[in-house]
Amino acid sequence: MYNSISGPYFGIWVFHTPHFVAKDPEIIKQILVKDFKYFPDRTIASNEEADEIAANVLFIMKNPNWKALRSKMTPVFSSGKIKCMIPLMNSVAEELVGYLAKLSSQSDSIEIKEVCAKYATDVVTSCAFGIEGRSFEKEDGAWRSVGRDMFAFTFANGLRSTSYFFLPKLVDLFKIKFIPAHVSQFMIDAMKILTDTDLIDILIKLQNEDFDGYKFEGTRVIAQAAQFFLAGFETTASTVSYTLYELCLNRSIQDKLVTEIKTTLQQHGSVTYEAIQDMKYLHKVVQEILRKYPVLPFLDRTTMMDWKIPGTDITLEAGTPVYIPLFALHHDPKYFPNPEVFDPERFSEENINSRPCFTYIPFGGGPRNCVGERFGLISTKLALVHILSRFEVECSSETPVPIDFEPKTFVLASKVGLPMRVVDVKRRPSYAA
Ligand code: HEM
Repeated sequence: MYNSISGPYFGIWVFHTPHFVAKDPEIIKQILVKDFKYFPDRTIASNEEADEIAANVLFIMKNPNWKALRSKMTPVFSSGKIKCMIPLMNSVAEELVGYLAKLSSQSDSIEIKEVCAKYATDVVTSCAFGIEGRSFEKEDGAWRSVGRDMFAFTFANGLRSTSYFFLPKLVDLFKIKFIPAHVSQFMIDAMKILTDTDLIDILIKLQNEDFDGYKFEGTRVIAQAAQFFLAGFETTASTVSYTLYELCLNRSIQDKLVTEIKTTLQQHGSVTYEAIQDMKYLHKVVQEILRKYPVLPFLDRTTMMDWKIPGTDITLEAGTPVYIPLFALHHDPKYFPNPEVFDPERFSEENINSRPCFTYIPFGGGPRNCVGERFGLISTKLALVHILSRFEVECSSETPVPIDFEPKTFVLASKVGLPMRVVDVKRRPSYAA
């Protein structure tokens, strides 16, 4: 629809409701930033009676409760706090390397998305909850299993996300759960054994506070912890695995990246926060991955008050759902020529400055943008640094080219995962020499 309809915006019907879709970057900026007071909430359903945990995660919460909690949760993601998490991430990444070394000696094609999901799961559980996820120890580790169930391509999950994103009234009517019941119960039980982390510290301090009538207690506290797991692992796993996929297809980019990683690590001695920040080409590669494969293919907002579309006499009535077609913007040849070509140089300073703002928004924008951006970026890059220091990646006979995306999930996922050949350079005869 984005490609076939010209003009700065258009309207669509989703079932019985008219929706507004913004195409023009200026209008997008207006919605996300300048006129935020008109668009402080997402369209997605939020109903405590239907799903107490889901209704209290930042992504789904409505105002005024969202505003009160967002400002309290933001400090968890400061660069100082994230820097302190690097040793924990490094230790999970070392387990990842050991696991990949074993798998690569046994199999010619490895489903890398699943391996990255194990890494991302254990990073979140150790950094946010202070417990070991142990996802590499067995295939059906408890945390990985519930994570898998949350994002599985099942009919039930498809129905859940369709009703939450597009038919909120159905959620209210039938009290549909966003998070499968056994996943919620697992979270409630798990939160009882959490240990000392910055996140838990903040939650304990806030517990029992009253934010203008929103009492922060019980399941509401658990929801704030659970959201780290729900929002944190699929996003990171997806970004790491799409990067490895593109590196299979683009050997010269892989070589250039490996050279940068090796040189920087020689200078810094080990994988530190500063070393990762110094890897400028790695940053360009990850930015280009998030252009081509944005985890969330669209953003949603809803009008709180009647809003006049800038430069027109058209008014959107309060309550109108609004969509920002993130994936389509990132693939628009007007902003990204030959959009299917993977080219990290699109993110050179010069190229970034030549594009209009709000054409590249993988973490959303404005006050309601992704709160975990720093955490997501650093845990993604750290995994890539560890993997590419030890392995080369290549297409196997099972690697899907091109990727066929799964329509039953709200995140951008390949129908068949991302299988590829992972070559352990330590096993190469030339390595010993
Ligand atoms: C590569 C990794 C990630 C990507 C691409 C990503 C992307 C996004 C996007 C597009 C949004 C919607 C923003 C908007 O509507 O303007 C979002 C929201 C959010 N993300 Fe992320 N995310 C990532 C990692 C994480 C991580 C690691 C966490 C937490 C540990 C996290 C927590 C959240 C939360 C809580 C929200 C809702 C924010 C709010 O409404 O206040 N994300 N993310």
